[in-house]
Amino acid sequence: NYYYLLGLVGAYLYGAMPFGYLIALSKGVDIRKIGSGNIGTTNVYRALGVVFGAMTLLLDLSKGFIPSYLAFHYFSGLTPLQQWLLFLAPIIGHCFSVFLRFKGGKGVATSVGALLGFDIRLVLMFVAVWLVTFLPTRWVSLGSILGIWSVFIFAFAILPFFPWALLFLAFFITWRHKDNIRRLMAGSENKTFLPWEQKK
Ligand code: G3P
Repeated sequence: NYYYLLGLVGAYLYGAMPFGYLIALSKGVDIRKIGSGNIGTTNVYRALGVVFGAMTLLLDLSKGFIPSYLAFHYFSGLTPLQQWLLFLAPIIGHCFSVFLRFKGGKGVATSVGALLGFDIRLVLMFVAVWLVTFLPTRWVSLGSILGIWSVFIFAFAILPFFPWALLFLAFFITWRHKDNIRRLMAGSENKTFLPWEQKK
């Protein structure tokens, strides 16, 4: 119905808010021209440090969390398709932002926010696989890709229905990382270090 469509457009537009880009711009930096060129938490953190990275992370998480939480735990009477479209809308917004000429980020933080609004167990799975991947390698991108696939497999195992949207999401996030995958295979992927490991 009409209100649902309004909500869907709202979720897309909130997802399209390029918080990482704006936060970096407030420091006089065009984040799209630095490091990986991505507008997400990882690149903002590498360029501007932990405070600005954390701000980007929280805002990008909120983009996914709010519509997903409302869809699955607040609004009643939505069909599963309507719920999952609300889940995906901010992720699509983040990656194809109307404010950035339909360019955008890779959708990882926004997806994790959306997963948090749906079922926290899937986020715990993501974080566990992400840590196990990231800590020995320092490659955020590889942690993101393996994390999102583990979420789909775990969801498939524990949910009473086939999680089509999460299968789509796993393919989508992998595709958004195509440049990272190329760099990983070439051995030139950016490494990301923890705050206390950074050189002065
Ligand atoms: O969320 C994006 C992350 O997986 C990779 O970021 O900047 O290293 O390409 P980046």
